Amino acid sequence: MTNFNKSAELLKEEATSFATAARVKYYDIVIDHGQGAVITDVDGNDYIDLLASASSTNTGHAHPKVAKAIAEQASKLIQYTPAYFANPNAAKLAPKLAALSPISGDVEVAWGNSGSDANDAIIKFSRAYTGRQYIVTFTGAYHGSTYGSMTMSSVSLNMTRKMGPMLPGIVKVPFPDPWEQEADETEQHFVDRMFSQFELPFETYLPAEEVAAIVIEPIQGDGGIIKVPDAYMQKLYAFAKEHGILFCVDEVNQGMGRTGKWWGIQNFPGVEPDLMSVGKSVASGMPLSAVIGRKEIMESLGAPGHLFTTAGNPVTTAASLATLEVMEEEHLVERSAELGQLAKDFFKQEAQEFDFIGNVRMYGLNGGIDIVDPSTGKGDSDATTMIMNRVFELGAIIISLRGSVLRFQPPLVITEEQLKQAFAILHQAFSEYQAGQLTMPTCHHMGW
Ligand SMILES: Cc1ncc(COP(=O)(O)O)c(C=O)c1O
Repeated sequence: MTNFNKSAELLKEEATSFATAARVKYYDIVIDHGQGAVITDVDGNDYIDLLASASSTNTGHAHPKVAKAIAEQASKLIQYTPAYFANPNAAKLAPKLAALSPISGDVEVAWGNSGSDANDAIIKFSRAYTGRQYIVTFTGAYHGSTYGSMTMSSVSLNMTRKMGPMLPGIVKVPFPDPWEQEADETEQHFVDRMFSQFELPFETYLPAEEVAAIVIEPIQGDGGIIKVPDAYMQKLYAFAKEHGILFCVDEVNQGMGRTGKWWGIQNFPGVEPDLMSVGKSVASGMPLSAVIGRKEIMESLGAPGHLFTTAGNPVTTAASLATLEVMEEEHLVERSAELGQLAKDFFKQEAQEFDFIGNVRMYGLNGGIDIVDPSTGKGDSDATTMIMNRVFELGAIIISLRGSVLRFQPPLVITEEQLKQAFAILHQAFSEYQAGQLTMPTCHHMGW
């Protein structure tokens, strides 16, 4: 019988001095170790990880090659600040990432410690290069937790509540959410309607010639795993080019093979960013991020315009070099596409059987599954909570987005057998929910 005694003890100890703002509430477990797509808590309970540490361990937990690279480098030199002196790993990694980026011509890289600061870098470099002040971002976006990236975000009131004033010069426009599309509306009409909402600020108070950058997640992660409609993306890109606005993409969540391509933006042929932010899985979860961009933009700031004591340090960059090797050797980008198709087939099949499963979106091994009230078609957060909690009890970790979207992002190394086990768990939870056998967990509120 499963017990959570050690987790409970540790959480009690932590609670005496840990800030509420620093963790979103889900399950009361303390993670002890992991291997591949399985994590184990301090009480020895195993879980199939369908979250991949928020898409930051695409190569799986404790990948032997990544772990070895970290250990070997740590025994040689853990840190000497790249802000003053280069290290061999960072020196090798910068050109590799530049070459891997979807940006043509000369490309440069600047390191950071988190996806958030990489997005702040987009603000800095785009303002410096263009000499313009405004940045346009989208509702539903999550760009991070520093002041700049938080101001660019628009996904939770708790990310601005009591903290203002936020960074000036950030303008938010509506993201083309599928929920906004009317039942009888054609895709073209929907795109035109949403794009006219995008244009409204530019026609009324926002001079395009004062806009430095448009920043977008080509597939919104925390917004619900939502792909921008192709035609909308083409219009947006054309608009940016027409007005000399830098087109910038946030690849922190959806990059590194997550969508079945190296980068999320590669799902949109012909669209090439000027700047992009990467983080999370770039170093298999070690704290490394980067802003990557056209050289002339990246050269618009002088030192110390964007540097940090530990950013690009020898250990994190060793992890990243090993990560890139693993991605190639194990064909993880292709694997994401292939296993993603299996997952898509599974969830579509479930949606046929269970009327509370709404829209299923799957791009690579990367999905958002809407849980709805069948009588209204609207998101049902209580149902989502009951299902997630049951999945947890049955031995898999899944969380939600926007309250009523199941977030499906396993490590890309998950085996087919593990994936099928996860499908069986999900199917059981769906069936029990359908049969009215599930109740709300004692902790009623999970997620944001
Ligand atoms: C799209 C996106 N951008 C930026 C971030 C922020 O990254 P970090 O938490 O490493 O600062 C996240 C984190 O979830 C994200 O999903």
